[in-house]
Amino acid sequence: MPRTVITGASRGIGHALAIELAGRGHDVLALCRKPVEVTGLADVDGVTVRGLDVASPVAMHSFATALDGTIDILVNNAGIAGGKLRDNLSEADFRMADDVFRVNAVAPLLLTRLLADRLPPGALVVNVTSIMGSNAANTSGGMAIYRASKAALNSISRTLAAELGPKDVTVLAVHPGWVRTDMGGPSANIDTETSARGIAQVIADADPAQNGTYLDWKGDSLPW
Ligand SMILES: NC(=O)c1ccc[n+]([C@@H]2O[C@H](COP(=O)([O-])OP(=O)(O)OC[C@H]3O[C@@H](n4cnc5c(N)ncnc54)[C@H](OP(=O)(O)O)[C@@H]3O)[C@@H](O)[C@H]2O)c1
Repeated sequence: MPRTVITGASRGIGHALAIELAGRGHDVLALCRKPVEVTGLADVDGVTVRGLDVASPVAMHSFATALDGTIDILVNNAGIAGGKLRDNLSEADFRMADDVFRVNAVAPLLLTRLLADRLPPGALVVNVTSIMGSNAANTSGGMAIYRASKAALNSISRTLAAELGPKDVTVLAVHPGWVRTDMGGPSANIDTETSARGIAQVIADADPAQNGTYLDWKGDSLPW
């Protein structure tokens, strides 16, 4: 039974992925910023809900220190869109950018490094990125800070792949599709269950030869 840790599991893709992976026999630790407010997870067989705010380095240190045993799969899923940059050089613009980079890029790096000793040979790290992080695919512009944060996460995935690959740990950057969530909005292409099934299959099929690759929820390669 693989032991799987998922950040940002309170709603959206992380919530659906916790349920999907538990259904496939994983022992899921669903990490949520405000666990008391989470619905539809606590009673799912194979899911344990715990608190973790990935914007807090203190909370991440405490979590990593208190955790016992090893982790087979770490899914860095928590993310924020950050809203619109108003380009007016306001303190609010800078604070928004700081928050987006902190949650979307820096937190996955630090959490993975904090847990690196708990990842045995054969373990897998999935960084939930976005096609918006692809520089090659960026022909439309828009959402500059969110895009840049996911491009940073893609870079961080390559760094972690280089660092952890020699320990036989595989690191993937995975785009979940355009998904109907609070972030993706109601017009998105697929629902959370479809995205979660796809990501779960990418996880099931993961191979060390894929270390450092950028894939979508169907397992297809994406351009950096
Ligand atoms: N939806 C899409 O179309 C789409 C496309 C590409 C990539 N993605 C990526 O997929 C991931 C999940 O997105 P989603 O669509 O499911 O978004 P969502 O519905 O807005 O959910 C975001 C999740 O991240 C959590 N989160 C945010 N900040 C956190 C923090 N500081 N600590 C812990 N958890 C935090 C939220 O927790 P709270 O409930 O506490 O706020 C929530 O569980 C994100 O990384 C996103 O960038 C989504």
